[in-house]
Amino acid sequence: MENRERGSFKGSIGFVLAAAGSAVGLGNIWRFPYLAARDGGGLFLAVYIFLALTFGFTLLITEVTIGRKTKQSPLTAYKQLSKKWRWLGVLSCLVPFLILPYYCAIGGWVLKYFVSFALGNSEEAAADGYFTTFITGKYEPVLYMALFLVICSIVVFKGVGNGIERSSKIMMPILLVLVIGIAIYSLTISSTNEAGKVVNGIDGLKVYVIPNFDGVGLKEFFYVVMDALGQLFFSLSVSMGILIAYGSYMPDKVNLVKSVNQIEFFDTLVAFLAGVMVVPAVYVFMGTDGMATGPSLMFVSLPKVFNAMGVVGDAVGTVFFAMVFFAAVTSAVSILEAIVSSFIDGFGLTRRKATIMESVIGLVIGLFVCLGYSVLYFEAKLPNGKTGQLLDIFDYITNNLFMPVISIATCILIGWILKPKFIIDEATKNGEKFQRKGLYTVMIRFIAPAFLIILLLMSTGIVK
Ligand code: PHE
Repeated sequence: MENRERGSFKGSIGFVLAAAGSAVGLGNIWRFPYLAARDGGGLFLAVYIFLALTFGFTLLITEVTIGRKTKQSPLTAYKQLSKKWRWLGVLSCLVPFLILPYYCAIGGWVLKYFVSFALGNSEEAAADGYFTTFITGKYEPVLYMALFLVICSIVVFKGVGNGIERSSKIMMPILLVLVIGIAIYSLTISSTNEAGKVVNGIDGLKVYVIPNFDGVGLKEFFYVVMDALGQLFFSLSVSMGILIAYGSYMPDKVNLVKSVNQIEFFDTLVAFLAGVMVVPAVYVFMGTDGMATGPSLMFVSLPKVFNAMGVVGDAVGTVFFAMVFFAAVTSAVSILEAIVSSFIDGFGLTRRKATIMESVIGLVIGLFVCLGYSVLYFEAKLPNGKTGQLLDIFDYITNNLFMPVISIATCILIGWILKPKFIIDEATKNGEKFQRKGLYTVMIRFIAPAFLIILLLMSTGIVK
């Protein structure tokens, strides 16, 4: 049954940029550099690239192919593969549903900082307590979250070709230029530290790229591998239904294997460049102690770094947050699309109705997430030992529980029930080459599920 509401990408570049837009997000910018700096620099980079080419490739191509083969949304695709696996579609749709509100809340924070720097308030933005004062406010975070969500809704409302594809084709190249620009600038800065020693960007770059084996035994190496795996998993946007949705809009003539390689290349390149941008800048002004992960890197440490740059700080900060904004919008658009496509295919809604409906739901849940730092503040103890607010609970449930479960189940369904040939056949149906066929088969049947189970046990705190 052809559904005219579905739409499709016009060509392979549009598909690749949209999928890369989904993959390149906050994770590339605030998590990757931190992990690399912590986990032995070049050692982490090498492990990550190796895993991207094996593990990442396997998960990515599997989901994109399920989408293209079924031409269905995440909610309805699995049902078509096998009646008994319908629940996996429901779970795959639930994940973006839960992620959207909090991703938009963070997108709102990015907008707020962009505005602050653009107005020349870097001094203020760098002051202690600025971030906390902002997020514990009752109105501003809600307002920025809503603005961010509305921007994403407009893109999705316009459809796959005219909205998602077109906006990715504009935003992704600009993003790449901005990242390269800031990365080069970051290498040229220097400052005199407390001990009177001049530190420059190149010293920071060395911390980032030179492999450091100090204190790395077998156990530590295992942790580096698991860190890289967790990061890869989040960064590629797998097991969120997104790649199934985007794959379903992929024209049949597009070379699947090649496109998947290009998405991975783009995602890894931006993650690497984000490190070249962040690690030297933080190192020059704060030393290795300044490296933090998550919100505190982006909203606390980096504003201080930009402020320390003096007059150029406002400009660099503005450009930086503009870049992060593009990265966040293209990711949030993909999350929203995963849900909207499910509403269209699952409930027969029009794109307009589906978009409006989910945007309203997202706004309401997003409101609660934002207020989780003020009126609804509480401290929850999470099974992995951390304490968090509403946002962290959503993040924990999706990233640590649902996503690994979805991927493990997908590996079992494809590897053992439908068999890897199912994917390989679809990917090579126009006579394309699938060079890593053997590798793919071993990965999807044995290695990927085994590692994913370890990841699940570790992220739920069952195994330390
Ligand atoms: N892959 C994105 C990143 O690296 C994160 C993301 C999360 C994208 C959820 C889509 C949905 O930040």
